Amino acid sequence: MPFTPDSELDLLFPAEYISQEIRAQLHPDLHLRPLASSDYKRGHLSILSVLTVVTDPGEDAWIAQFNAQREAVRTYYSIVIIDKPTDRIVAVGTAFIERKFLRGLGSVGHIEDIAVDAKQQGKKLGLRIIQALTAISENSGCYKTILNCSDKNIPFYQKCGFEQKENEMARYA
Ligand code: ACO
Repeated sequence: MPFTPDSELDLLFPAEYISQEIRAQLHPDLHLRPLASSDYKRGHLSILSVLTVVTDPGEDAWIAQFNAQREAVRTYYSIVIIDKPTDRIVAVGTAFIERKFLRGLGSVGHIEDIAVDAKQQGKKLGLRIIQALTAISENSGCYKTILNCSDKNIPFYQKCGFEQKENEMARYA
């Protein structure tokens, strides 16, 4: 599939929300942009499967989820890095903005579901995804940006400027 420019895509949020400075630091064969409604076809779920078990819901259900995220305005910011020669996704990540009653009606940015194609790891794609999502969170007025990760990823997030704070609790249904 030939590379599709942002102007021809149906995007989750405006591409201008992504820092040009961060985009410019990528290799010219790579392009950082918001998730698009056609990204099911570009391997979105297969990159997420680098992170955890992914059940394929089928394209229609995937698009319904995309639309549900877009309807929740100024809340979901999923981004992807595209390998331009193949028009395939090689890295993904999401920031989710939580609006609070405390901290003067402050907001918190939650970073979720970061994954880089196994063949592309170690080339700073993860770092660029985190920098772009943190900038979106801070430009949305969030007073902090937080995430959960395994012990083995702590050094990666420290390199991205995060520090270890408190503990995660989970209860699975
Ligand atoms: N241990 C130590 N250092 C690391 C590690 C690690 N596990 N991973 C990356 N780094 C360092 C790199 O060496 C680099 O350091 P440098 O600046 O000194 O050269 C820096 O962190 C940036 O690394 P990137 O090249 O940007 O890392 P990459 O593109 O490989 O992305 C990621 C890292 C996202 C963890 C990737 O390896 C991956 O997809 N792993 C599998 C899925 C996963 O675990 N995702 C994170 C889940 S947590 C969440 O989603 C909130």
